Amino acid sequence: MNPILVTGGAGYIGSHVVAQLSERGERVIVLDNLSTGFREAVLGGELIVGDTGDRDLVVRILADHAIDTVMHFAAHTVVPESVSDPLKYYGNNTCATRNLLACCAATGVRHFVFSSTAAVYGMPASGIADEDTPTAPINPYGSSKLMSETMLRDVSAASALRHVILRYFNVAGCDPGGRIGQSTPNATLLIKVACEHAVGKRAQLSIFGTDYDTPDGTCIRDYIHVDDLAAAHLAALDHLRIDGRSLTLNCGYGHGYSVREVIHAIEHVSGQRLANVVEVPRRAGDPPALVACSDRLKAILGWQPRYDDLEFIVRTALAWEQRSAPRVNA
Ligand code: UFG
Repeated sequence: MNPILVTGGAGYIGSHVVAQLSERGERVIVLDNLSTGFREAVLGGELIVGDTGDRDLVVRILADHAIDTVMHFAAHTVVPESVSDPLKYYGNNTCATRNLLACCAATGVRHFVFSSTAAVYGMPASGIADEDTPTAPINPYGSSKLMSETMLRDVSAASALRHVILRYFNVAGCDPGGRIGQSTPNATLLIKVACEHAVGKRAQLSIFGTDYDTPDGTCIRDYIHVDDLAAAHLAALDHLRIDGRSLTLNCGYGHGYSVREVIHAIEHVSGQRLANVVEVPRRAGDPPALVACSDRLKAILGWQPRYDDLEFIVRTALAWEQRSAPRVNA
């Protein structure tokens, strides 16, 4: 098999995919500028430090290694930052993806797996999104990813390229073996932030809004374990290799948990009550509920979740934080 190029393979989700690819004997080339990724997170595969937007570098990698499959993770992913600095997101996410697609076209890449997001749906009225739910992003992060989706579909329509777009819901947890995890500095995602708080890396945990029209007043999300998400990428790869058609698929478990339920799970797993949990006003742009309909992922790719268990997700996330926990309140 030809090697696979994984952009962003030193980052949180990319590194878990690289680990699974390597474990099953795939040859992997990682392209990552290490802006938010970590050299030591690349388990297996060769790391090339560089930008997805660097045309000469990308063409050289694709040609030198005769790459016919690209998995594209490299992106900025912090929603509030995308609101304050939109061009950073359109540049690194949309423009760099355009460059990557041009390089793929120039070198004859046939398969492309793209890391997209539930943020393309914005605020669906029912709180449940399937792949036919109209896209209506409400922040530049979601728009930057939706623009990339559009480019990818158009390029596929005009060429022999075939793709799978995976729209992630709330990715959480870490490698159950404890080798790699989520090390994002200044993280904003609930399970990451709450686990940091549980091990003393943060002084306080905020609940953003307790007056939503949900059973306990806090927002509901569909949390998917990162290894189950990674497995969906390998299933997408297998689908493309047997000449499967281009697809857009949601990645979630199809049910959600509230912010309070997540906090209770962390308290249960850690065996401690979390101090300094404060209720603050709603965060701008949060839909009350966002849950995936992921029937197509199961039906078309044969994907079956292994870790659909909030406490398991939290246990792996907590274990990762406990490995290196400088305590602010020790
Ligand atoms: N929340 C808190 N306190 C925190 C952090 C989050 O109460 O400290 C709440 C949020 O208000 C929200 C829920 O926890 O109700 C989940 O928030 P996250 O920030 O963990 O995740 P989001 O649902 O905002 O974002 C996720 C993905 C994004 C994607 C988005 C699409 O991480 O990449 O879904 O809706 F864009």
